[in-house]
Amino acid sequence: TSNHLRHVESMSTLPSGAGKVSHLNAVILGEALASEENDLVFPSEQFSSQALVPSPQKYLEMYTRSIQDPAGFWSDIASQFCWKQKWGEKVHSENLDVRNGNIKIEWFKGGITNICYNCVDRNVEAGLGDKIALYWEGNEPGFDDTLTYSQLLHGVCQLANYLKDIGVKKGDAVVIYLPMLMELPIAMLACARIGAVHSVVFAGFSAESLAQRIVDCKPKVVITCNAVKRGPKIINLKDIVDAALIESAKNGISVDVCLTYENPSAMKRESTNWQEGRDVWWLDVVPKYPSTCEVEWVDAEDPLFLLYTSGSTGKPKGVLHTTGGYMVYTATTFKYAFDYKPSDVYWCTADCGWITGHSYVTYGPLLNGATVVVFEGAPNYPDPGRCWDIVDKYKVTVFYTAPTLVRSLMRDGDEHVTCYSRKSLRVLGSVGEPINPSAWRWFFNVVGDSRCPISDTWWQTETGGFMITPLPGAWPQKPGSATFPFFGVQPVIVDEKGVEIEGECSGYLCVKGSWPGAFRTLYGDHERYETTYFKPFPGYYFTGDGCSRDKDGYHWLTGRVDDVINVSGHRIGTAEVESALVSHPQCAEAAVVGVEHEVKGQGIYAFVTLVEGVPYSEELRKSLMLTVRKQIGAFAAPDKIHWAPGLPKTRSGKIMRRILRKIASKQLDELGDTSTLADPSVVDQLIALADC
Ligand code: WTA
Repeated sequence: TSNHLRHVESMSTLPSGAGKVSHLNAVILGEALASEENDLVFPSEQFSSQALVPSPQKYLEMYTRSIQDPAGFWSDIASQFCWKQKWGEKVHSENLDVRNGNIKIEWFKGGITNICYNCVDRNVEAGLGDKIALYWEGNEPGFDDTLTYSQLLHGVCQLANYLKDIGVKKGDAVVIYLPMLMELPIAMLACARIGAVHSVVFAGFSAESLAQRIVDCKPKVVITCNAVKRGPKIINLKDIVDAALIESAKNGISVDVCLTYENPSAMKRESTNWQEGRDVWWLDVVPKYPSTCEVEWVDAEDPLFLLYTSGSTGKPKGVLHTTGGYMVYTATTFKYAFDYKPSDVYWCTADCGWITGHSYVTYGPLLNGATVVVFEGAPNYPDPGRCWDIVDKYKVTVFYTAPTLVRSLMRDGDEHVTCYSRKSLRVLGSVGEPINPSAWRWFFNVVGDSRCPISDTWWQTETGGFMITPLPGAWPQKPGSATFPFFGVQPVIVDEKGVEIEGECSGYLCVKGSWPGAFRTLYGDHERYETTYFKPFPGYYFTGDGCSRDKDGYHWLTGRVDDVINVSGHRIGTAEVESALVSHPQCAEAAVVGVEHEVKGQGIYAFVTLVEGVPYSEELRKSLMLTVRKQIGAFAAPDKIHWAPGLPKTRSGKIMRRILRKIASKQLDELGDTSTLADPSVVDQLIALADC
């Protein structure tokens, strides 16, 4: 990470606007790049010659059209899907400027379709009925299963019929709290089939977080399973759901049905806590329903799903995606960024509880008729070679993961990788945070035997799909750069005043114009949507990320510029962790910052002020950690709790996080000006307590 940061820092000191090379020009110069002293990695001739986009010129031609004629570009692609009725005259219409009224984005409005139909039925009708849709690999080696496209259709229809039967209708919310069983994508597709809006909650979230989401979206049904094994541990999910449902009932939201899948490898029925009348075993009811089910045809702009994500306040945001644009965009980004071939076996290690699992485990790949590996377990269980064992077992060709996993496997040693063949691999992918060049090189050289291009895909829950990403056959790569924008995407880098800067520069990353996969609102809070994303730099969508562009036009993401941190590729709002900490009766105040972490990318560093008279103790530290685990989930527990007799505040009472970040990363000679603090002596007190 430090290499990367140094690299980025050295770039940001160059005068902005130097060498006005737009990314388009740079791509034309693709050939010339090679001769320069650049850290370039070229795709092989053989790879490029068979690639969907084989050259910078081809990219340029397609990209130019996508910008100059977005309606034509996207409607040509959309026509390849099944629409019950074609969209209206306007392919898209939008207002992206708060100064001109409310933000509004529409794609394919008036078009009538169904994404489940396009993911499943359409492929069966095209003759792929016997093709494997899902390979399921359980936590324990030796536990596995497969579903063909026909079987997937069958399973989805049965669940859809059940949901309809208990009264779930178009537009109703359904909360899904499941681990990576095949039932998870099945449940998502069944909701989509009947026009219900799914909200998948990552099964690592605590009861309180789950309750918060249930209260916000008010589902009729929660779909879960009794337990899951993750590595050597058994996690009782049903108990977590029970606690969440008690909590939501206290807030006036009661859920009629809790549909529970029995996960026999983790827990038997008899040991599961049960509430008669509300709880229903999936296996007792769903298989009794017919295996065909009419789809509910919906408008392209009807909601498809809600996914809660962290922002800079304590309250998670319900990101809302609609149907048509999301469908076209996830399918197209998947196809080009991974250079999809029908013979591919694709494995993405993300959980469907996050956006990556929505767009690139479920929708994007299935829309292309791909074969997808769904993995329930932990990537280093029972040993650090598990991933490559799975790659060899299913002959995985495209492997998509997060830098944090790459770094942790890199630490475990090459021998766990090289003892597997990995010959099937063709393309590698990275997502979630910037990948540092040393991890990139290890991924490329050791995992991919210097043969497989890496698609470092930059995007967000909000963007629905890839925004800046290599197209693996098209151009040389620079380790650690997400390279160039996807078709239809116009990234711009702006300064603090919101003025677009050209050429070689660094600043805030924004996007100009709309693209089909963009989110349409924050559920129930359109005002927050506008304030967070469209007001900071009027006229643009603000991503919350910093970015620099080098002289060749390559983009280098430098991390969040807001109060969001990125821990092992999971987005966590510092305010969420703070509000969990201060809910502890002995905690008076808390301030949380991100610090560089060798494996996780960023670690969570919490400064905690205790209630007057309460002494510091190891026990209290543990109890504070437990509070965060309980309120958010284990993945949000601080890596460090730093006792703070006081926090550095300005005279107006604002916490100066800049100073806390420097103390946390031990950069004490870079504290900067502390004279504006209400009480400058707190800084010395904090430094003295650093190792307590
Ligand atoms: C970060 C995950 C650098 C970024 C898809 C973004 C990345 C946040 C990359 C979104 C990447 C994601 N390079 N940074 N390839 N991919 N990020 O919503 O800070 O969970 O804003 O979506 O992750 O996280 P989210």
